[in-house]
Amino acid sequence: MAEEWTTLREMLLPAAEETARGRHGRSLEAALRGAIRGGQLPAGTRLPSSRDLAGQLGVARGTVTAAYGQLVAEGYLTSRRGSGTRVADDLGCTPSTEPGPAPPTARWRYDLRPGLPALSAFPRAEWLAASRAALARLPDEALGYPDPAGLQELRTELAGYLGRVRAVTVTADDIVITHGAAEGLALLGAVLAARGRRDLAVEDPGHQGQLELLTASGVRPCPVPADCDGIRVDLLAATECRAALITAAHQFPLGTALPPQRRHALLAWARERDGLVIEDDYDAEHRYDRPALRAMQAMDPIRVAYVGSVSKTLAPALRLGWLVAPPWLRADLVRRKRLTDLGCSPLPQAAFAGLLRSGGYDRHLRRTRLLYRRRRDALLAALAERLPAWQPIGIAAGLHVLLRLPDGMDDSVVHQGLAARGVYAPALSEYARGAGGPGYPGLVLGYAALSADRLRAAVAEIAETLT
Ligand SMILES: Cc1ncc(COP(=O)(O)O)c(C=O)c1O
Repeated sequence: MAEEWTTLREMLLPAAEETARGRHGRSLEAALRGAIRGGQLPAGTRLPSSRDLAGQLGVARGTVTAAYGQLVAEGYLTSRRGSGTRVADDLGCTPSTEPGPAPPTARWRYDLRPGLPALSAFPRAEWLAASRAALARLPDEALGYPDPAGLQELRTELAGYLGRVRAVTVTADDIVITHGAAEGLALLGAVLAARGRRDLAVEDPGHQGQLELLTASGVRPCPVPADCDGIRVDLLAATECRAALITAAHQFPLGTALPPQRRHALLAWARERDGLVIEDDYDAEHRYDRPALRAMQAMDPIRVAYVGSVSKTLAPALRLGWLVAPPWLRADLVRRKRLTDLGCSPLPQAAFAGLLRSGGYDRHLRRTRLLYRRRRDALLAALAERLPAWQPIGIAAGLHVLLRLPDGMDDSVVHQGLAARGVYAPALSEYARGAGGPGYPGLVLGYAALSADRLRAAVAEIAETLT
């Protein structure tokens, strides 16, 4: 092999060894593809003949021919008689300077980050049965390009469910199925920005990822403080915003419910501004010691866009959510959804529709509500025993509690101290958006994914670190 190809050989040798261990062709092909995409093999680079490369790597010539052939078919390589095999010129894949995907989550001894349901409680058997049944009943036409608004069958089932459980005023035609609540928010952000309504009030504190997502969709988030009763509507009214994103049922991360007076004030603000309230109903199904508060959307379906998903009830990995849009935004949202991705896959939608129809979703929620209540009680009992001076807030609902720390304590230092002992417990200050709320330190403790025993052990660890 010529000198110029020594680096190539070094680059491909690990893949060749994989191949020698019996994983034919694929890893060599993947290694070559990766080197081209990553820019280590620039456009125009001539590659050795298949015989030469096979000899250098100690693999069968057919393995190299197959890898070259596949990459020619994919357009990464060109092959011409006389000039050999080269890296193609117009790949449109210049190496990215963006940071790569986030590294896998560290293995924490106790991971109390909020936002995850108990993934081990996912109803695998019911989901499998619902998926099978869905595949059997869907006609062939349903496997073509879907309705960008979502599968009619699911929208019909969801309209019934949301009306029954959250009092949402809705028909199937008002619903757009999305890839999680995240996409619902991104679509709303993009449509508002396209209408020139770029300023969007958001709660401070709030979900950091949402802020980034909304900014990427073209809006300018404008933080408004939330206190122990939720967003300060009086301060919202002092902004130029005509839209506000609210977690009314369970403020994230403070955990409080927006009381009726503020709900009315918020809607009065929206009507007066010809504005919009975006209601992120992210975990309202989980409620333990307080009566259900109906969704704000039920109070004014023209002024409220409602967003929800299965991320806190089934699993975030399903990427299945919904948006109930007021009539004046619906066509724009469906158009934006079509332009974004042509619609969500009908298969999980049909499975979820079946689960809703059969009562399987209700049964799953009843089971998990009991599970989460037991876990929450175990956490609260352990906190009361080990850290009685520290006040848990927002305990009546959801999948996390906020542990208020003594005033003056630096919660990011506490967070770091815990992290050093393998306990992941985010500081409340991580969720601050710079507008001044809530003004005290805390830890946000997600409890849904840990057993009662592990929660007790985690609290013991926290207590030992801090007392
Ligand atoms: C406040 C809030 N809204 C919405 C979501 C859900 O987003 P998605 O449905 O896209 O998974 C989360 C999940 O962490 C959240 O914390």
